[in-house]
Amino acid sequence: MYYGGWGVISLFLAAVLGSTIRFFFPRTLFEPPTKYTIGYLSEYTQGVNEKFKQLRRIWVVREVNKLYVIEAKCTHLGCTPNWLAAEGKFKCPCHGSGYTPDGINIEGPAPRPLDRFKVTLSENGEIMVDESVRFRGERRQWDKPGAFISV
Ligand code: FES
Repeated sequence: MYYGGWGVISLFLAAVLGSTIRFFFPRTLFEPPTKYTIGYLSEYTQGVNEKFKQLRRIWVVREVNKLYVIEAKCTHLGCTPNWLAAEGKFKCPCHGSGYTPDGINIEGPAPRPLDRFKVTLSENGEIMVDESVRFRGERRQWDKPGAFISV
């Protein structure tokens, strides 16, 4: 009698089972931190700053008397809009939604303004962003504490 074939099949099934279990229970979960610093106020001149768009998917906007952080995620279906400096607006490449420099939806299918993240100053003066707290313009949350830094 030959039992070698069953041994090979058993090993194969054990390997498949082990891989399946590891797939559903990975040892490590890599997620970017939701709180991080983005430098000092002196690094931001008036206007839309795209320095962190690639890394954090945000824009930092400085106005005459305040600074805030906009999430670079279209409120239609989540594409990443582009900042068109010459036209003075954000424009989504997916379905054409447009937003003013402060994130208000003005054209296309976007149903609401772009979200803003909580922004504060740390003790040493660095700007801290907290993505776990967001402020929505259509809910009149942009004037709440944490929605901007006075400059
Ligand atoms: S995802 Fe931006 S317009 Fe549709």
